Amino acid sequence: MKKEISLAKANRLINSGALIMVTSCYKDKQNIITLAWNSPLSHNPPLLGISIAKTHLSSELIKKSKEFVVNVPSLDLLDKIVFCGTHHGHDIDKFKEAKLTAVKANRLVNTPLIKECIGHLECLLRDVKEAGDHILFIGEVISASVEESLFNDTWLVDKVKLAFHLGGSDFTSSNELVRVK
Ligand SMILES: Cc1cc2nc3c(=O)[nH]c(=O)nc-3n(C[C@H](O)[C@H](O)[C@H](O)COP(=O)(O)O)c2cc1C
Repeated sequence: MKKEISLAKANRLINSGALIMVTSCYKDKQNIITLAWNSPLSHNPPLLGISIAKTHLSSELIKKSKEFVVNVPSLDLLDKIVFCGTHHGHDIDKFKEAKLTAVKANRLVNTPLIKECIGHLECLLRDVKEAGDHILFIGEVISASVEESLFNDTWLVDKVKLAFHLGGSDFTSSNELVRVK
């Protein structure tokens, strides 16, 4: 038996990608936003998409600087994930308030990485599409780096817990590896 659910919660059926913390920077303002809505889009060139509400400071900074960095947190950072997802950078410096460390990127972007995160994708903005009340930012990955003890072709899920958002106050993680032959 299937039940119908409200359209407001329809996204929760597929809202299952690992949470990311996206950093942005324009002139002397830098910011962090927590995002559940993200996806790889292309192998060649390596493109990914992130969907950010039009009103968020991060949308403004990314439009102006034409770059952003995807940082992958582990579940250990849940307090900081929630903090950066519930406070607006208009009002505060999230690096300072969340006690996260900004470090210089490896390649051509001015946007800092978050040191405490375990993976980083440095992106140049390639396209911007309006999507209802959100903006789909399409970025080309120009540098990817990861904690070497936690990644060997794929995340070593027996060593690290990635964070997933189910919706509302509910989060989950997975540490079961299932490998097909
Ligand atoms: C778990 C979680 C997931 C979120 N996912 C998104 C998302 O995919 N897109 C979005 O626009 N906002 C998302 N948010 C909300 C923003 O992170 C939040 O509104 C943030 O304060 C905006 O920051 P800014 O105005 O400094 O850019 C999420 C929040 C949480 C807690």
